[in-house]
Amino acid sequence: MRTIFLFLFISMAALDAKASHVNSISNQIHQLRPKTGSSGHPVPQLNCLSWRLAVETNNIKDWKLVPLQCEGYVGHYMLGKQYREDCYNVVATAIQYAKTLKIAKDGKDVWIFDIDETTLSNLPYYARSDVAFGAIKFNATKFDEWTREGKAPAVPGALYLYKALLSMGIKPVFITGTKEEFRQIRIANLKKVGYNSWIKLVLKGVNDTGSSVMYKSAKRAELVKDGYRIVGNIGDQWSDLLGDYVGQRTFKLPDPMYYIA
Ligand SMILES: *[C@@H]1O[C@H](CO)[C@@H](O)[C@H](O)[C@H]1NC(C)=O
Ligand SMILES: *[C@@H]1O[C@H](CO)[C@@H](O)[C@H](O)[C@H]1NC(C)=O
Ligand SMILES: [Mg+2]
Repeated sequence: MRTIFLFLFISMAALDAKASHVNSISNQIHQLRPKTGSSGHPVPQLNCLSWRLAVETNNIKDWKLVPLQCEGYVGHYMLGKQYREDCYNVVATAIQYAKTLKIAKDGKDVWIFDIDETTLSNLPYYARSDVAFGAIKFNATKFDEWTREGKAPAVPGALYLYKALLSMGIKPVFITGTKEEFRQIRIANLKKVGYNSWIKLVLKGVNDTGSSVMYKSAKRAELVKDGYRIVGNIGDQWSDLLGDYVGQRTFKLPDPMYYIA
């Protein structure tokens, strides 16, 4: 099937090329014309790169779904090299910062890691056609099934950051919105990809209601109360990095697939 389509495509392209030199000038003029709606007014086209920038900077908040016309764009971004390189860049910046710290010997200097899309990647799930990189409505049942498989790989560069911080004497603390019932599954998944030690692994308990900002702030407050110093904090959601006791410095990883308040 695929070969036939490819052949057809090439044949059509060849035919097109013959005619194109005649039409090229008028085609160019046509392409410069703005698309018009039924009212005759130009229809603004959504620029998906601009949309992603607005999302990453938290200018667009509380968005529910990836715009349908940006599904392909987000898919290419996430599966291509730009996402990986953006992650590596955040990690390199975080390590550069960590190297400037004077770490105490008491083991109280900690670094907060979010889990989903920060430590472990759900990209194999989001790439599924019935999920469409977040362009199709989130289904908690299906997502839980995926989590239970315990097959999430590491986010690009995250394991490198984790190991670099450990070697500097900075202790990792995981704070995740994942429910407490997944604790053993998550531990197995973390260990499987190479995250082997941490000071605390905080999952969302039945009484941890309210927004993610409130939940994560409360958990960080407990750490501070216990005498830990949050020297750094990394997450893919702004809700990981806003609120109380966010840490001396925060690092935002890219995530154009979903928004958690
Ligand atoms: C969510 O996924 C489950 C399991 O695949 C399915 O049974 C259910 O119908 C889905 N819900 C919605 C609203 O699509
Ligand atoms: C949740 O709160 C209820 C009511 O205060 C309490 O009985 C229960 O032990 C709490 N559960 C956990 C896991 O903390
Ligand atoms: Mg996350």
